[in-house]
Amino acid sequence: MMTAAVRREDAGRAGRVVVLGSANADLVVEVPRRPGAGETLLGSDLRVFAGGKGANQAAAAARCGASTALIACVGDDGNGMLVRRALADAGVDVGAIASVGRPTGTALILVTPDGENSIVVSPGANHALDVSVAQVTEERWAGAGVLALNLETPLATVEHVAVRAAERGVRVLVNAAPAHPLSAATLAVCDPVVVNEHEARILAGDGGDRSFEELARDLLVRGARSVVITLGAAGALHADVDGVGRVPAHAVDVVDTTGAGDAFVGAMACELARGAVLRDAVAFATAVAAISVRSMGAQASYPDRAEVERMLTGA
Ligand code: RIB
Repeated sequence: MMTAAVRREDAGRAGRVVVLGSANADLVVEVPRRPGAGETLLGSDLRVFAGGKGANQAAAAARCGASTALIACVGDDGNGMLVRRALADAGVDVGAIASVGRPTGTALILVTPDGENSIVVSPGANHALDVSVAQVTEERWAGAGVLALNLETPLATVEHVAVRAAERGVRVLVNAAPAHPLSAATLAVCDPVVVNEHEARILAGDGGDRSFEELARDLLVRGARSVVITLGAAGALHADVDGVGRVPAHAVDVVDTTGAGDAFVGAMACELARGAVLRDAVAFATAVAAISVRSMGAQASYPDRAEVERMLTGA
């Protein structure tokens, strides 16, 4: 039987998103094509954006209207200030972002004319987000309606927090990006685990011959409470006890796909925290991701709720 104390805790969490994850400065250059080994290529002027999967997801959730906090580590440097300022502007609670004695994470990003990117991340301060930081911040993430985690921070931290948060009644969303397998205990608390096509195959240990529906069902059998696979221009697939389905993508002109997956994750966390069912959360997140690819940068391209609703209603 549910006690009054647990009911009060659940009510207090409603609508609240916490992201525990990475924050980077994105150094972006547009290039005509990707350079080959040993080749020097001239590109556009350098542009510097706030990025990092965790920070992007938090910014997206906040822009969509969720009360959102980010737990992260940055350096005591200019890029750390850039990240904090951008998040605060997006409406994210930055009170649990720690400054540590390593440089802020940096992503070197090349964007080609088709809007696709190549990214190298120097994690820097993100590697300081260890289990001890997670323990110190437990009261923050344990108070979330939805807790979003990704794999740009140490895997041991993600796995510790995911399992402990689920024990405390938090809905846990794990974005298994960059691609890496998860322990059975972590997979078992994912509701959902969110992956793209490439990450889905790594997570399911598939060589490339099974359909995404089969991969999703396999991950459910292996314990995931729900599964979402983003399929780029083909939309997204969702799977849970209610079945497996697809949501189509919106047709848009693509300028830069950087951070589209994070926009999707943050928007989905927002909607799940508001009580949406998985399919509806995926449909909303698909619209947010579509809007995000129409302009340069990750967080810089994220819409507010009104813009998403205009896309969804065709207004
Ligand atoms: O997912 C996009 C993000 O990946 C970029 O913002 C970059 O910082 C890297 O973390």
